[in-house]
Amino acid sequence: MTKDIVILGIESSCDETAASVVKNGTEMLSNVIASQIDSHKRFGGVVPEIASRHHVEQITIVLEEALTQAGVTMSDIDAIAVTEGPGLVGALLIGVNAAKTLAFIHNKPIIGVHHIAGHIYANRFETEMTFPLLSLVVSGGHTELVVMHEHGKFEIIGETRDDAAGEAYDKVARTLGLTYPGGVQIDRLAATGEDTFRFPRAMMNETDYDFSFSGLKSSFINTVHNLRQKEMPINEADLAASFQASVVDVLVAKTIRAAKEFSVTQLLLAGGVAANQGLRERLIKETALEIPDVQLIIPPLTLCGDNAAMIAAAGTVLFEKGTHGDLTMNASPGLLFEDTY
Ligand code: KG4
Ligand code: ZN
Repeated sequence: MTKDIVILGIESSCDETAASVVKNGTEMLSNVIASQIDSHKRFGGVVPEIASRHHVEQITIVLEEALTQAGVTMSDIDAIAVTEGPGLVGALLIGVNAAKTLAFIHNKPIIGVHHIAGHIYANRFETEMTFPLLSLVVSGGHTELVVMHEHGKFEIIGETRDDAAGEAYDKVARTLGLTYPGGVQIDRLAATGEDTFRFPRAMMNETDYDFSFSGLKSSFINTVHNLRQKEMPINEADLAASFQASVVDVLVAKTIRAAKEFSVTQLLLAGGVAANQGLRERLIKETALEIPDVQLIIPPLTLCGDNAAMIAAAGTVLFEKGTHGDLTMNASPGLLFEDTY
């Protein structure tokens, strides 16, 4: 019998302070998340300085809670996995320094994890990964199509040329006066409206796998401003449905085409926007129709946003490969996938 691998994960790249204990990369023993959303709401977005302060206040509480809920002590932990980047430098530093401190005191290996690798590995709590696979990563800071041929190796085949999908959601939500983060509210409004505005579907028919959402965002904002200037009624539900239809059309079309071209066995959805109901429903429908042999995996809603279980899951794979950092590790706000693995 092989020995269990128990990893403590830490995530602090943006506005969630999180710690989690994961056994063998798939069994979540605890998953503690302290969200700061309420503190950032009144500013309409994440304020880096406030985020850092919250992380400092929360990190030890969250770590203790994660160990207690898992029923383990540091002596049961094989390694500490922490988000090394990308993200806000001041926020990342809190997690990285907490990880380094624990690693030093308890003499444990430390593993730096790329935040997006974490989002992809959230799917491992649903089903074991099989290769080759394609992951559609849609978060507040990233929109990427990633092909994997083995654990821990990522090939970005397409990405956004401007705004990330989540960022576009949050900006159009703000135009309608919705509170940060507005993505989920646009999603809810969209469910009650119709695609009457027919906004552009940027780059949908181009042969590459890149995306662009800033033109769509501008069309949306201009439409709202024009309606306001003319003092015409604003149908928020139809606006939201039209925006969402454009985003989902492009994401789904390009993802299905890439899944076919790369002959993948699985299609994984990852990142905060993976919580989007419209996107989830369309992917389920189109995958069944267009690529029925490809297994679609969608993380549970609780693991779509930032959490540390996904960081521990990705860290487990690196631990198994024998890849780890040391106490010279630093926060890396612009960390690239290619640099980590
Ligand atoms: O992955 P995440 O928690 O943070 C980053 O790594 O960026 O993603 C946060 C993003 C925010 O932009 C938020 O508005 C968006 O995910 N989001 C959604 C939904 N839930 C969260 N966007 C659209 N529909 C949703 N249901
Ligand atoms: Zn994230």
